[in-house]
Amino acid sequence: MPNKIQHGANLFEIQDKYGFSIDEIMDFSSNVNPFGPDKKSLDYLVQHIDRAKVYPDPAYKDLKSVISQYIHCPSENIVLGAGTTNLLSAYISLIQPKNALLNSPCYSEYERELKKHQSTIHHYLLDKETDFTFDVDAIIEEIQEKDIDLYVLTNPNNPTGSIMQVEDIEKILLSTKAYLLIDETYIEFTDQTPYTACQLASQYDHLFVVRSTSKFFASPGIRLGYGILSHQDHLLALNQHLNLWGINIYAEMMGRQMFGHKDYQDRVYQHIKRERARMIAELKSLDSLKVYPSQGNFVLCELTTDLDAKRLREKLLPEKIVIRDCASFPNLSPQFFRFCILSTEANNLLLKALKDCLS
Ligand SMILES: Cc1ncc(COP(=O)(O)O)c(C=O)c1O
Repeated sequence: MPNKIQHGANLFEIQDKYGFSIDEIMDFSSNVNPFGPDKKSLDYLVQHIDRAKVYPDPAYKDLKSVISQYIHCPSENIVLGAGTTNLLSAYISLIQPKNALLNSPCYSEYERELKKHQSTIHHYLLDKETDFTFDVDAIIEEIQEKDIDLYVLTNPNNPTGSIMQVEDIEKILLSTKAYLLIDETYIEFTDQTPYTACQLASQYDHLFVVRSTSKFFASPGIRLGYGILSHQDHLLALNQHLNLWGINIYAEMMGRQMFGHKDYQDRVYQHIKRERARMIAELKSLDSLKVYPSQGNFVLCELTTDLDAKRLREKLLPEKIVIRDCASFPNLSPQFFRFCILSTEANNLLLKALKDCLS
């Protein structure tokens, strides 16, 4: 049976089909930072590889304490999961929303999880004419009118790159009783302070913020995510729901190291910020492309010629370049594609290939 879950590229499939090795493929589709995991954390892991012989601390006290310092939130408000995927699934299962509101387009996993619980799903349509920005008053009205009990916000949003300010998030929390699930998987690629809702999660008990190590820390293989919430019953229920020793010892060790390595974090942030601005500026000169602003490590583009994104993706594949055709996202036409920021060298190859295809 075909695998229906479609996210970034399946590099293993491309490897088999085209005969490239995974290391040769320039994967512009998965939104993972190009530096790879922090070298110092990997070295630590290698030095302690024999820890496979012990169980991790079931309370994950040290890991939570490191995360608590990283996000300036109390340790007791932190829950850990095998990726944000695990946490958002657990939260949706706990809330069992009757009426949920999603931004459209957004990351597809929320809908998949909500469908498991027969939630009625409403869509707040983001408008390309306003660069997919959020109109907070319209969202509040929608929450009230549709009797929404869970609103999910990806901040910044994947695939549009649009973002909501923290004042607007607080306005939603003050104006409605709906639970608010904020996915901050891409927040570290932004200036953070004007946008992050981590601090609000300790004040408002109808807020749950989830974060990932997959994209910014380039470690999707270790499956480490964390969430922040202050609702005592929910904290208890989530901790009970999530498996005993659910975070393996290697993810635990990597986490204890990488959140403290500020030099790595600065390097990643500065590179993405600089290259994103350069790529957007260069691509804006192409007549057959509309480039949308982005606060993430990815950029959404719309082809304005007859060529659609599926065909463009196919044209780039023999050059070992993989972009994300966005046809599977609702509220986007087949002309939309997304690419993420990789190394300067890879970005230059993408620029050249796009110019060759579209000029
Ligand atoms: C918005 C968003 N949230 C969550 C995930 C998955 O994160 P994790 O690897 O932490 O489960 C992705 C992956 O593409 C994503 O784009």
